[in-house]
Amino acid sequence: MQIGIGMLGWGVVGSSVHRLLEEVSHDIRRRLGSTLKIVAVAVREPNKKRQYPIPDGLLRASPLQVVRDSKVRIVVELMGGLEPARKAITESIVLKKPVVTANKALLADMSGALFELCDLHETEIAFEAAVGGAVPIVRTLRLSLASDRIEGLTGIVNGTTNYVLEQMECGQSLDAAIREAQAAGFAEADPSLDLHGVDAAQKLALLSELAFGAPLQWRDVPTTGIQSLGPADLSYAAELGFRIKLLARANRLRIPRRLMARVSPYLVPRGSVLASIGGASNAVLLESHAAGPSLLAGRGAGGPATATAVISDLIDVARRHAANTAGLGCYLWASAPLPLASLDEEEERAYLRFAVRDRPGVLGRLATILGQSDVSIASMVQHGRKNEPVDVVLITHAALHRDIRTALEQIEREECVMGHPQWIPLLEPGPIRSG
Ligand code: HSE
Repeated sequence: MQIGIGMLGWGVVGSSVHRLLEEVSHDIRRRLGSTLKIVAVAVREPNKKRQYPIPDGLLRASPLQVVRDSKVRIVVELMGGLEPARKAITESIVLKKPVVTANKALLADMSGALFELCDLHETEIAFEAAVGGAVPIVRTLRLSLASDRIEGLTGIVNGTTNYVLEQMECGQSLDAAIREAQAAGFAEADPSLDLHGVDAAQKLALLSELAFGAPLQWRDVPTTGIQSLGPADLSYAAELGFRIKLLARANRLRIPRRLMARVSPYLVPRGSVLASIGGASNAVLLESHAAGPSLLAGRGAGGPATATAVISDLIDVARRHAANTAGLGCYLWASAPLPLASLDEEEERAYLRFAVRDRPGVLGRLATILGQSDVSIASMVQHGRKNEPVDVVLITHAALHRDIRTALEQIEREECVMGHPQWIPLLEPGPIRSG
């Protein structure tokens, strides 16, 4: 039997899905008992010159024409963005055609409404490719650990920033590293979504809803990107025994019942497993009640890696479709809201970098202001005094986020301090270590 696939989008991921489907068609037939065949395609820019052209006869005039095509049984949406993706996905659900998508922005904004619609029409949306590229984190949370209670997750979920930070460690500029990430097909069409942490916050919202069964709006997640980090921060971090990684974190807090969620660059101890995740790879550390710590890691972005997730969803969905059980109990979706904890109440150790005029008393002044806010200094680095300003880098003992913030607001107003202080939290060593 042949199952007709309608493709919306033919970019880096879409064309990779086509190539991979052809390459592994024999294996798919063996595993599924059917062949998956792309029978119709719609794209935003039909006349664009493409490295991998759309095969003759497949291009349709609009996404809705693809969705409504009687030969299309499953729709793959890889256009990204809100429209026309939302309209096409909605139409597909109403026609009871399952959807496979990588569109985290759309899902992070309106997963609730789309899943309700799926329930109503007894069909489903599969979205393994929306988070973590080839890393099967969605399926793990939906199925493999559905038996357990997830207490926390910490992930590198944006391949672009992980790649960019690593390149910057080797002395490359932020702009050059982003251009490389774009050329490799990791970055979003608008790379500021990667750099500012928006992509990671959207993925964290999806993972949190699956992990904790609590709806989370990505716009409510305190989010800091990597755009203000300079090569100096990466080199001071290395000197102090850390690497800088953009992490997405969420934890269930008990008293009071809260969800802590945050996206931020962190100083991650060398030797910890997250510090060893390089290039555009992704990794998610899960902490669950009975199973304890688990780690999933792999290629987090790029055409072929993301295409594997799309095709595994296609196989999964096609199996249920063939058995006539599509949409039945497929989702562990948000059930009970969990209020977000205030970041100000979090305790953290912090890396602080101040650009200061190198004069007697400056260090004492910084230490006094921090001390007045109950922020205690654990260690310090300062090099040379040839150039003004000089960097003073401090690592603090654990302190309340609010107290660090209050101290930095005051320090920023000091005449001897130039520009904004840099502030990066430290990730405490976790249960899984590398090597
Ligand atoms: N821009 C995303 C990333 C692509 O770099 O991780 C995969 O979602």
